[in-house]
This record gives sequence, C-alpha cells and structure tokens, in this order.
Amino acid sequence: TLEVDVAKTITKIQPTMYGVFFEDINFAADGGLYAEMIKNRSFEFEVPLMGWDQPKTEKYAFNAKSGTATIIKVVENNKNPRFCRVIVNDDIGYELVNEGFRGMGIKKDARYNVSLKAANHDGAIKKIIIQFIDKDNKVLGETSIVPTSNDWVSYTAQFAATQTEAKAKLKITFEGTGTIDLDMISLFPDDTWNHRKNGLRKDIVQLLYDLKPGFLRFPGGCIVEGRTLAQRYQWKKSIGDVDKRETVINRWNTEFVHKPAPDYFQSFGLGFFEYFQLAEDIGATPLPILSCGMACQFNTAELVPMEELDPYVQDALDLIEFANGGVETPWGSVRSEMGHPKPFNLKMIGVGNEQWGPDYIARYKVFEKAIKGKYPNITIVSGSGPAPEGDFFDYGMKELKKLNAEVVDEHYYSSPKWFRENATRYDNYDRKGPKIFAGEYAAQSVGITSPDNKNNWECAFSEAAFMTGLERNAEVVNLTSYAPLMAHVEAWQWTPDMIWFNNLEAYGTANYYVQKLFSTNKGTDLVAITKEGKPVTGQNDLFASAVKDANTKEVIVKLVNASANAQELNIDFKGSKVADKGTVTTLTSANLDDVNSFESPKKISPTESEIKLKGKNAQIRLLPHSVSVLTLKMR
Ligand code: AHR
Repeated sequence: TLEVDVAKTITKIQPTMYGVFFEDINFAADGGLYAEMIKNRSFEFEVPLMGWDQPKTEKYAFNAKSGTATIIKVVENNKNPRFCRVIVNDDIGYELVNEGFRGMGIKKDARYNVSLKAANHDGAIKKIIIQFIDKDNKVLGETSIVPTSNDWVSYTAQFAATQTEAKAKLKITFEGTGTIDLDMISLFPDDTWNHRKNGLRKDIVQLLYDLKPGFLRFPGGCIVEGRTLAQRYQWKKSIGDVDKRETVINRWNTEFVHKPAPDYFQSFGLGFFEYFQLAEDIGATPLPILSCGMACQFNTAELVPMEELDPYVQDALDLIEFANGGVETPWGSVRSEMGHPKPFNLKMIGVGNEQWGPDYIARYKVFEKAIKGKYPNITIVSGSGPAPEGDFFDYGMKELKKLNAEVVDEHYYSSPKWFRENATRYDNYDRKGPKIFAGEYAAQSVGITSPDNKNNWECAFSEAAFMTGLERNAEVVNLTSYAPLMAHVEAWQWTPDMIWFNNLEAYGTANYYVQKLFSTNKGTDLVAITKEGKPVTGQNDLFASAVKDANTKEVIVKLVNASANAQELNIDFKGSKVADKGTVTTLTSANLDDVNSFESPKKISPTESEIKLKGKNAQIRLLPHSVSVLTLKMR
C-alpha cells in the first residue's frame, strides 16, 4: 500500500519544471526545425559551392560546354560577402542543382515558395526555370522567374510538388546567354508553423507544442561556446534581415563525431528572434544561454582575458533589452522592427553552458554583478561541469553556493542503471542552496557519445524513475530537460535524441513519451506519496511521485515499475475526497530494447484505461517495466 496525502502541499511545482532544450546539433536547426530546404543558400560555406552540384562533373558535362558558375567575394558586404556568378555561353542552357539537406522532402500537392536575388547583366538571361527533380532527373513540379533587372532584385515564385519524394533536389536552369549574379537562393514549404515566412517545420514544432513545455532553452549546448571564441554563438549576428546574418561553421562540424558532416554550418535563419517567437508559440518561457567568454572546454578551451570580458557582458545586457525593452529603447526597437513590439517577457538568462573551474567562477561573478545591477529581477542560470560528479563539479557547486547563485545547470549522461539508482539524488540536497536546473540528461544504452546508443525502452523508463526523484524534490529542482532534443536520421553526430526526423516526417521516441507524460501532468502542488512512511525511491524497483493540480482539481500519481514482474498496488488517498473513478495512462513495451521508429512511430506510446476506486483506495496492477500515471478528480 502506498499512501498519498492529498491535503498537504509540500511545495509548489514550478511552471518551468519540464521544458525543452534546443541545440543546433544533429542538423536540428538548418536541415531540421528551420524549414529552409536549400543548403548553402548564400554561398558562404567554406567550400562556397558546397551543396550545389559542381557544374563541371561528368554528370553535368554539358554545363562545362555551356557555361560556368563562379563565386565572387565582395568586401563591402561583410556579412554575406559571396555570390554566385553564372555565365552562360550556349543556348542549350546552364544548370545549378541544390541537393538540400540529405535531399529535400517534398509532398504531393504541397506548395513551395522559392526566392532568389539576381542581378541580370544587360537582361542577358531570359528565364530561370526552377524544378524539383528526382534522382533520375524526372521533374516533380516547376515554376519560372523572369529576371528583369540589371541590379540586385529579389524574385519569388510559388509552385506545387506533383509527387511525394524524400530525396528531391532543386534544379535551376538558365535560358539565354550572358551573365547573371545570384544570391540567397531559398526554398520553403508554404505550410510552415503558423504560416510564417522564414518559418519552421510544422510537424516538428507540433511535437514540441504537444509537450506543453515550461521553458525553451536555446541555442545550446556546446554551440553557445563555440570551438573557438570567434565561433561562439553571438546572438546579435542572428537577428535582423536573414541575408545579413553571417554564416558560421557549426561546433558539431568536426571529425570527432560518429558521422563527420563537413557541410554543417549555421545560417542563423533560425536566430534569437525566432527562438523567442517559438517559445511564445509553444507557451514556454524563454531561457537563452550566452557565452561567458570561454570556448568549449572539450575543444580549444580558449578564454577571453578578464579585461576583455566587457563585450560578452554587454551582449547579455543588450539581450535583456532586446527581449523586454520598450520599443523606444535601442534593442527593443530592433525587436519591434522585426515584427514583435510586445516584449518577450524574458525572466531568466544562462551564463555559460557546461563550464567549470576558477575561470568560470571569475567570469560568472562579473556577469552576475552587471546583470543584477541593471536587471535585479532577471534570474541567472549558472553552469556546472558536464557530469554531476568529480572535483570540478564539487568546486563549482561550492563556489556558486557561496555566491548565492540562484539556479545551477547540471548535466547527466549515464547508464539506465545510474538513472534508477539516482532517483534519490536531491533527497538530501540543501534546501537553501541554489535551485537546480537539470538542463541536460539522457540515459545512454551503451555509453556516452557511443554511436550505438538507442532510444530504447529501458533508457526511457529509467529516466522516468529518475524524474519521479526530480519531481519529489521540486522544492529545489525547478527546471528539467532531456538532451539532445532532436536529430536528422541521416545527419546526426550524437545519439540518443528525443525526436528523430527525416526530410518528410518526425517521430517521438519512447523518451519523448516519458517527457510528455510528466510535462502534461506536472500539476501545481507536490504532495507526499509514501510506503510505510518513506518516499518510494526504488524499493522493489518501484518509484513514485504525486502532485495535485489546483486548476483541474486533480490528483496525479506517477508510478514507475522498473521490475521485470508486474506489481499489485493499493493506493490510499488521504486528506481529501477523490472521485470513485479515474484514468490510468500507461507506457510500456515488451522488451527492454524496443524502440520507436519511422515504420512504427507509436510502438511505445501511452494507452489509457479507466480505474474504479474502492472507497478511497485505488487498486492498480503495474505492468512489468512500465510507467503509469493515475489521474483522479478531487472532490
Ligand atoms: O547535448 C549534447 C552536448 O552535451 C551539449 O552540447 C553539451 O552541453 C553537452 O556536453
């Protein structure tokens, strides 16, 4: 028998308790959430024609006869200095083909918006034909643009796909002979999330929206820090007109990963404005993380000298003004001009990602003084080392405590067993210490950074067991998020990931459904659930937490049975009357190794059943290896 004391609130559950952590890793932004379909649209990759079929290859032999495509770099436009000059010598035409991000996913009858900037020298090029093609060069939809001006002009056209194809490409054919300059060749599905131009993939945002996340942390992860300081994420470079956002090599474009992706760059089309907008769209509080002047400590570990830290601190202050300032303030007016006069209501900001040691503490202190000096109500999230053990971690926690840090971001990537064994991690944590942001965690079926890790059922229910511990300690644990959030099935560097996608579809893993169960049942008040007076933290492989929801007037019990055997439980509700029937939502799977997949995206997904109570007792049979959520109305 477990006892739930419905009457007494132990602590409030913060609205931020369950959130999402977005990082541009695994092609999560360009090639993923960001719906742009053209790779290297402004020819700014290190190899400037990367993504564009090289015109002189054998496949495009006729191009060699008919013309050239060369990259020109101009100094006056330092954000987007390169463009492509196409010279056509022959009436047979000239072709450029963009391969997309591991192909382009197109859907029959869906409409697509193409745009490009062109300067047509002396009106030489009469027509630009734009076509989807498949691998056999079959045309799957087409439109055309007539470039009318000598000067740089933007052209747009819309067309439909005639067939669904996961690996389409975009072919651009130039008719007429002469010279044309091209830049910002862009292609979006018309049906983006909220129908926005420069928008996001609807199916992926929907998965995030369905989680009802309490916060959206962005833009990373290591991506915040950069391999070098010069390559750190600089939010000011990610806003304004998209063609003025400077392309930067992605931190995950490295050979030290499972599948090196030399074509992984950040266009910043999904930049800070779009992140704030996304947070607003999905009802999440925004949580931006900024560089603290330390490049990734797993990489160059470059440090900005203390006397040169000012611009980094200024970036944080300006970001707060960008998000919250009135339209009359310098940065508030930038936000307003971008289409959002209303503030984004930023309440929290992160200083540094996964940094540690005295160098971090020294820099954190400077940020803290400046931010709190100007914006005392903004909560600062400080970093800690990568794993919650080890000297550097203890040092960081000790120092941050001395400084009265408000929230510390802890990361844990470990075995499923570790997650089950650490459900008590915060039971004895100092209630007066900094609040905890469990900012990155995921059970690793093989081992951290192993390419063989799977989003299997054992990992998922072990995370659920751990999460009951986070929830039981909601007094100190205020924010939590799984990591990484998503991955392109053909372009990932890190596994496991919560959502997998290809160019046509996306699915939630078993871990996604665990997150969703907790997030959509987070309640407002923590209440006690005990067995013989003690919290349920793994005795007989059973884990439990309970909340009530003041809005829906429900009591919600989360139960994780990590054992291979079913368990019969009696749950006794004390202190308040509960309805005589309720709902049990169950997540389970037959095998520890089971996973969701494109073929079977909902193999592991919740099922609902009704439960009848006997008086104030619910008798429930927990299936082997299962996560169950029992919901009852309070009377
Ligand atoms: O989630 C993947 C990486 O793990 C993050 O970028 C980093 O913060 C952590 O080391």
